[in-house]
Amino acid sequence: MEYDWENRVNTTSGTVRWRERLLGLFHSPYQPTEPGLFHEMMAILPFELDQFTFVDLGSGKGRTLLLASQCPFRKIVGVELIEELHRVAEKNIREYQDAEQRCRQIESVLGDARAYEFPLEPTVLYLFNPFPERALVEVLDRLGKSLAEFPRAIWIVYHNPLLESVLGSFNFLERAGGTQQYALYRTTHFSPGKVK
Ligand SMILES: C[S@@+](CC[C@H](N)C(=O)[O-])C[C@H]1O[C@@H](n2cnc3c(N)ncnc32)[C@H](O)[C@@H]1O
Repeated sequence: MEYDWENRVNTTSGTVRWRERLLGLFHSPYQPTEPGLFHEMMAILPFELDQFTFVDLGSGKGRTLLLASQCPFRKIVGVELIEELHRVAEKNIREYQDAEQRCRQIESVLGDARAYEFPLEPTVLYLFNPFPERALVEVLDRLGKSLAEFPRAIWIVYHNPLLESVLGSFNFLERAGGTQQYALYRTTHFSPGKVK
């Protein structure tokens, strides 16, 4: 609520309507990331962000997209399954005003993350528990195939990593850090880009 009040946006879960809440139960209910923790997670990334695209799979009303825009990412993309949440994210992106904004190329995409075509460039992939296990496996399978075709650096920031064992089971990923609240993974074999 405080974040929304200060930034004149609508990103809380409190104002999500019942229809969307019910839809959320079939996938994963909308809950936005806490701003302080988000910045902590971005701060541990050990490379310059300006070569990277930020992608949030399951981006809801787009709070992380606004928060990420305070970092110098090349581009910011959110993918959200529920149309109502995606529409609110689009409005937030349009209306967000922040003197400290460092990336203005922000987009919310309506769609199923399982069918999302990953950008062919270095990417920070953000996951706040958006999927059940089967969907997470499908997403990582697709990512592995995309990497085999176009090798590049991908770092995964996994917030509330309940299914961390799934990430650990993909041999193109290795753990690079984390706490109880999040885990950091990176693709093996590929350079991280400009180290901080
Ligand atoms: C826990 S919320 C996280 C919201 C946002 N990432 C954040 O951190 O503020 C998870 C979101 O994932 C979305 N979601 C669930 N399954 C999805 C799918 N297959 N494709 C895209 N979005 C999905 C839900 O609708 C919900 O908005």
